[in-house]
Amino acid sequence: GERSVEVLVNNAGLSTLGPVAASDPEAEMGMVEVDVVAVVDLCSRLLPGMVDRGRGAVLNVASTAAFQPLPGQAGYGAGKAFVLSYTQSLAGELRGTGVTATTLCPGPVHTGFGERAGFSQEDAEAALPPVMWVSAEQVALAAVKGLDRGRLVVIPGRANRVAAAFAQVTPRSLLLPVLVKNHPGLQ
Ligand SMILES: NC(=O)c1ccc[n+]([C@@H]2O[C@H](COP(=O)([O-])OP(=O)(O)OC[C@H]3O[C@@H](n4cnc5c(N)ncnc54)[C@H](OP(=O)(O)O)[C@@H]3O)[C@@H](O)[C@H]2O)c1
Repeated sequence: GERSVEVLVNNAGLSTLGPVAASDPEAEMGMVEVDVVAVVDLCSRLLPGMVDRGRGAVLNVASTAAFQPLPGQAGYGAGKAFVLSYTQSLAGELRGTGVTATTLCPGPVHTGFGERAGFSQEDAEAALPPVMWVSAEQVALAAVKGLDRGRLVVIPGRANRVAAAFAQVTPRSLLLPVLVKNHPGLQ
């Protein structure tokens, strides 16, 4: 029968680690498949039904990495920037339809994500100040609240909201050397 999805959450995601010049091409493309292609696939297949029914919600999980380039995780940062831009455009297209589109942009969260990407626990913790780490529970709560209110972008944690605001306005020529110097995947 026809599948009717009320709420679509695109949460699956992964990152590779290290410079593109030393990457495994298959792993890079696998990441784009999950982080980008699957989001486009599911949104384009499930939104028509939501719009027809006049209700529904999409929550796409990006990252604070969406607000800046991310040398050491180039494809990941670019994929999350794609998800942010794409979901904001969806929100614009969906105005007045009863369907909402929200982008969740978490900073660092202890889930095993960093370890799966290849960061050591120490590296992951050292890379970003403790004030930026938000618990998975808090992120999930902010996400559900934001989705319920039809918010455009949800960034859990005040420090992450401030960092995201700065990342967006800092000239790339100033930002890149700092990012390169501090990224554990480039040492
Ligand atoms: N943790 C962070 O610091 C952080 C920060 C910002 C954004 N995010 C984003 O948050 C989302 C969730 O990440 P997480 O922290 O919960 O990471 P996680 O603990 O590593 O979980 C990743 C999730 O993605 C799924 N997944 C991975 N590869 C897949 C594949 N090839 N096909 C289908 N599913 C796949 C996993 O499913 P299985 O368990 O079945 O493998 C799992 O449910 C991701 O989009 C991530 O980019 C995470």
